[in-house]
Amino acid sequence: MHRLTKINAENPEPAAIADAAELIRSGRLVAFPTETVYGLGADALNEPAVRRIFAAKGRPTTNPLIVHLASIDMAQEVVATWPDSADRLAARFWPGPLTLVLPKHPCVPDKVTAGGPTVAVRMPAHPVARALIQAAGTPVAAPSANRSSALSPTTAQHVIASLGDAVDLVLDAGPCPGGIESTVLDLTADPPQILRPGLITADQIRDVIGAVVVDRSPGEPSRSPGLLPRHYAPRTPLELAPGDGSIRVRELAETGVRVAWLTWDHVPPVAGVEVVSMPRDPNAYAARLYAELHRLDAANLDRIIVAEPPDEPAWLAIRDRLRRAASN
Ligand code: TXA
Ligand code: MG
Repeated sequence: MHRLTKINAENPEPAAIADAAELIRSGRLVAFPTETVYGLGADALNEPAVRRIFAAKGRPTTNPLIVHLASIDMAQEVVATWPDSADRLAARFWPGPLTLVLPKHPCVPDKVTAGGPTVAVRMPAHPVARALIQAAGTPVAAPSANRSSALSPTTAQHVIASLGDAVDLVLDAGPCPGGIESTVLDLTADPPQILRPGLITADQIRDVIGAVVVDRSPGEPSRSPGLLPRHYAPRTPLELAPGDGSIRVRELAETGVRVAWLTWDHVPPVAGVEVVSMPRDPNAYAARLYAELHRLDAANLDRIIVAEPPDEPAWLAIRDRLRRAASN
């Protein structure tokens, strides 16, 4: 049986944190909020606990996990080298939604890194995540708290709907403010390479360390094993449509297809179609995207039509997630 504990997002109650930290220390699974999405946490240095993460998610053992830290000191304990670029990026973006891939330290179980020589590390900014890792006193391995290849959860309810009793405790601090997953940056590549675009953009990273490669060619084999094309997907078939999407929506609706339509503010409605008006600011859009897709998915319609966001750097992470969601 899973337990759900409500917790204050800004000032987490110490008793709730102590309870959750004790579960982590005893090898159990705790779902917790981060500033991006909810994570499914376990003690990263406890191999049986890490195995439970893979089992709970139905995750292929070839897909490595991100290790979450409460400090830069803690990060340095799980990596073999800590280059100057890591120092500067951490100073600028941590705590926050940037994950760094570095050579792994032998103390990290091979399970965590899927047998690979590198480990992904990040210091989350959410007060609940920080307090939990601090209190557990150990690095916390945490993928997004959903069944493998499904949509990431941005609320505790999404976690329970996807994982149910496979998780021992869910800390419910309400919706995650960021709404999409962290940027994953491989610092072992030269020049460093973005393996997964996210809330921290390539330009922001370039400002700190110079040249950065963006891995954006769909279909090409990725260096990040988790980035299979079909990922972050709702069950309902999702399709990207040009413009505001209205032409495609009308076409489908006229032939009796039950459509949900994710489009922009101030778009005229189409009779009989569930319309979601999304903000034109990419950060505001990201914060709502998964919550809307979870909701529309639960409505069991035939199709979700999404108006394609602009082909601009600020929309890269959102376009990446939508493209994956569409590749069923
Ligand atoms: O925002 C986030 O990053 C969330 C929260 C919970 O922190 N976590 C998350 O974890 O999205 P997950 O497991 O759903 O995605 C981690 C991604 C996967 O694509 C995985 O393949 C990649 O990071 N990754 C992990 N370790 C890696 C490594 N050593 N080398 C390359 N890619 C790695
Ligand atoms: Mg995930």
